[in-house]
Amino acid sequence: MKNIDVCLTPDLLHLHTASLENSIVVVADVFRATSCMVTAFAHGVDSITPVATIEECKDLQNRGLLAAAERNARMVDGFDLDNSPFSYMDERLMGARIAMTTTNGTYAITKSRQAVKVLVGSFLNLEAIARYLKSQQYDVMVLCAGWKGRPNLEDTLFAGGLIDRLKDDYMMAEDSAIMAWRLYCQGKDDLPGYLANSSHVRRLHRLGIQKDIVYCLQHDLFDVVPVLRGNTLVCMEVQ
Ligand code: MLT
Repeated sequence: MKNIDVCLTPDLLHLHTASLENSIVVVADVFRATSCMVTAFAHGVDSITPVATIEECKDLQNRGLLAAAERNARMVDGFDLDNSPFSYMDERLMGARIAMTTTNGTYAITKSRQAVKVLVGSFLNLEAIARYLKSQQYDVMVLCAGWKGRPNLEDTLFAGGLIDRLKDDYMMAEDSAIMAWRLYCQGKDDLPGYLANSSHVRRLHRLGIQKDIVYCLQHDLFDVVPVLRGNTLVCMEVQ
């Protein structure tokens, strides 16, 4: 039976290296990087190049890509786009090639490159990710982006939600997977309420970004599976 494992933050990834090279990695940054990426692909963006630093993002902007940069949930001055999914529901972005750097999500993606495949997951494309994984013969590692090296609740809940969709086909390899699934079972009927006191929800509330919170917690809005091809994310053509 295939295994599913959960890495609660990229800072623990070194403890999972052996399984990483034989696994498909699903990166989750629910608030808001991966929710934003999934929304962008669902609205026709052609590619997203995730980079870990602002300097790399500026270099790609200077080469002609649209560039999105966020730090501490705020847009970085001098760039074209922020990190709200609502900014990507714009038909002018159809076919766009975007460079993106965020506080945690793009860093997590760049740390996953030795995996068999790197997918971008969110609640918005949860079923599409689950359906694709079931069609593959690889173990799965859910990499939670967390916050600056610390675990967070929303990404762990996503991991639990994916496990909930896969539990008949995958074995929970480690306690982190069991923890994530049990958290999701506890909170799934009211995720906004379950997350009300979490650190990033409070951070987003302080910045007046409430609407992104409710949006990012919706399930199965989009049938898209973003996958890393080299250093760039594209939308996988799945049956
Ligand atoms: C992150 O990278 O942690 C998020 O994208 C931050 C945010 O958008 O609020």
